[in-house]
Amino acid sequence: MGELGLRNDVYRRPLATALARVGVSAGWRCVDVGAGAGDVSVALAELVGEEGRIYAVDSDPRARDAVAAAAAAAGRAQVVALTQAGEDLVLPEAVDLAFCRFVLMHVVAPEPVVDRMASAIRSGGFVVLQEPITSAGRIDGRPLSMPGARRPDVGAVLPGLVRDRGLELVDAWAEAPAGAGPGPVADYLASLTEVDPGDDPVVLPPLVTVVARRPS
Ligand SMILES: C[S@@+](CC[C@H](N)C(=O)[O-])C[C@H]1O[C@@H](n2cnc3c(N)ncnc32)[C@H](O)[C@@H]1O
Repeated sequence: MGELGLRNDVYRRPLATALARVGVSAGWRCVDVGAGAGDVSVALAELVGEEGRIYAVDSDPRARDAVAAAAAAAGRAQVVALTQAGEDLVLPEAVDLAFCRFVLMHVVAPEPVVDRMASAIRSGGFVVLQEPITSAGRIDGRPLSMPGARRPDVGAVLPGLVRDRGLELVDAWAEAPAGAGPGPVADYLASLTEVDPGDDPVVLPPLVTVVARRPS
């Protein structure tokens, strides 16, 4: 989870766009599935304020301590860290938003996770997924790959994935950070691949965002 701060930096614009598109606001209940070190959970906690609540869920028990530390550092007591697999997601209350980012690319099958996310939201609530199309990224024009991920291109199928789960597709788009030479994009790529792109132009994997809603 060491690169998460950097990831949050280069991909922060798609996150901000998605949360604004949904209109996350004070008092909302949200779940961040595959929360990792809690960057998104803390960002959500800032939006929902003291009356809201964020469930930060991750299958890795080490994430619970990391999320708790990040929430404490940010003074966000409304973040509740839970160890659960997304496939087994159970929360004490229905939520307004179920979110995941860079998670479905790692799971055995995305359908059960999205099914659980759809079940976790209230009627009229939102599911937001942000996943990459890794092979659409480029280093000096050459496609990127990520052999360690089970579904590196899962972003390409997200709209159908939510539609087939009975959710209403509200919006979907893709965004990719890009750069050339030293800077956060090159640093991020080096942290993922251990390859320094030098002065080569880089387009990081586009992140597909899907905003879906459970019909009222
Ligand atoms: C690449 S990190 C992404 C972290 C965070 N979502 C972000 O965007 O910064 C992937 C996280 O998903 C978690 N994860 C993987 N499979 C999972 C599953 N089946 N259920 C819940 N979490 C899972 C991992 O433990 C890891 O913390």
